[in-house]
Amino acid sequence: MVDSMPIPAGRKARRRAVANRRAGYTVPDQKNEGGGRTMRVQVAIVGAGPAGLLLGQLLAKAGIDAAILEQRTADYVLGRIRAGVLEQTTVELLEEAGVATRLHREGLVHDGIHLCFDGTRHRIDFRELVGKTVTVYGQTEITRDLMHARVAIGAPTVYEAEQVSLHDLDSASPRVRYASGGNVGQIECDFVAGCDGFHGVSRQSIPSSMLRVFERVYPFGWLGVLSDTPPVAPELVYANHPRGFALCSMRSTTRSRHYVQVPLSERVEDWPDDRFWDELRSRVDSDSASALVTGPSIEKSIAPLRSFVAEPMRYGRLFLAGDAAHIVPPTGAKGLNLAASDVHYLTRALVRHYRQNDDALLNGYSARCLRRIWRAERFSWWMTSLLHRFPDTDAFGARIQQADLDYLVGSRAAAASLAENYVGLPFED
Ligand code: FAD
Ligand code: PHB
Ligand code: PHB
Repeated sequence: MVDSMPIPAGRKARRRAVANRRAGYTVPDQKNEGGGRTMRVQVAIVGAGPAGLLLGQLLAKAGIDAAILEQRTADYVLGRIRAGVLEQTTVELLEEAGVATRLHREGLVHDGIHLCFDGTRHRIDFRELVGKTVTVYGQTEITRDLMHARVAIGAPTVYEAEQVSLHDLDSASPRVRYASGGNVGQIECDFVAGCDGFHGVSRQSIPSSMLRVFERVYPFGWLGVLSDTPPVAPELVYANHPRGFALCSMRSTTRSRHYVQVPLSERVEDWPDDRFWDELRSRVDSDSASALVTGPSIEKSIAPLRSFVAEPMRYGRLFLAGDAAHIVPPTGAKGLNLAASDVHYLTRALVRHYRQNDDALLNGYSARCLRRIWRAERFSWWMTSLLHRFPDTDAFGARIQQADLDYLVGSRAAAASLAENYVGLPFED
């Protein structure tokens, strides 16, 4: 029985969607396939970010049917500028999902990064140190490729799903309810995958007595600017400077993504483009500064930095994946890659359940994910500590940071350790 109820018009979301479309973010026609009815699927996925979309695609390949509920519009999801660096294992997972053609054509393979301090740039050569590379390809593009693939296979996605709520998670037949287009819909399923990010409903649906949370909030954020200007160097430049951290990154050979560390009290409105470019220039080495081509910003935002892990990543028939369960500060470029590794483990566990009627991998899911997550949490925390100015750093702390940087560029073992973590630790069996 499907009852109906009035829904407040999503005027704000629609305005944003129109703005995104004007900015050039286009997606195939995304029909609301499930609005206002009851669906029965094997897996209900909450959230159409990279974790939810990739899981949907990998499950479809394995013959497991899934429906996705997303609270925003497809255009809104594509308008969020986020991650840019992919580990080799993430690239392989996208290949497995059959969505890597454009990635291989347009993605940029990077053999290393630059670390810049005391006005000098030092290269960390991943290929030479650990025989691996990373690929620069925006989260926006991955999401777009996954959305296209999902439309092509005709799998159901409900965009603008409101008031999503999870029910009977501790039973064998959980349900997800939502409101869409003036009606209430329901999905009956075997499992719920909570892929709805840090602010989503999934983690909040777990009784707090069943969850242990670990958190560190940093006293600064990253002000990021996207611009259609060429990158300052062929590889990323991470800079430690007395005025604060800076990062020169990119999305392509013609589109740059730059960040500067700012106090949390800063507002984007106080950062006109010229002020941003001047600040960035002041924090990098002279080669990068003179190579810096400035231009109008396409997007500008401030992201807070946080380390967060919720344990365990399972409650009954609900499995959390990606930002729903953990957050890393951006310095190690691990957020999207961790979401992908969770999805890898969850896919394998669900396939084992359906094909072999064996729940060993489902039962081991949380512990297996958390081992990799904590290593990435450690690395991201360490990179953040190494490269940022902390308001309360005393003279002792400053010398320790300096010694850490000197050790990194002076010791092959130290550089190899950074490289091994940055390119991504291997998956467990
Ligand atoms: P998300 O991408 O957050 O997707 C979750 C989806 O669930 C969203 O589409 C959301 O709308 C939807 N949702 C939320 N609540 C509900 C609900 N109740 N019902 C239905 N749907 C819901 N990583 C990097 O490597 N580099 C970066 O530069 C970078 N920048 C970032 C900037 C910001 C502001 C943020 C927040 C993250 C950034 N990250 C970055 C991290 C990276 O983007 C994330 O780790 C990655 O997006 C995780 O994917 P996900 O699918 O788990 O979560
Ligand atoms: C990005 O390009 O957005 C990016 C790259 C590397 C990071 C963080 C963000 O460590
Ligand atoms: C990430 O790289 O994981 C990341 C980047 C920016 C954020 C949070 C996480 O604000």
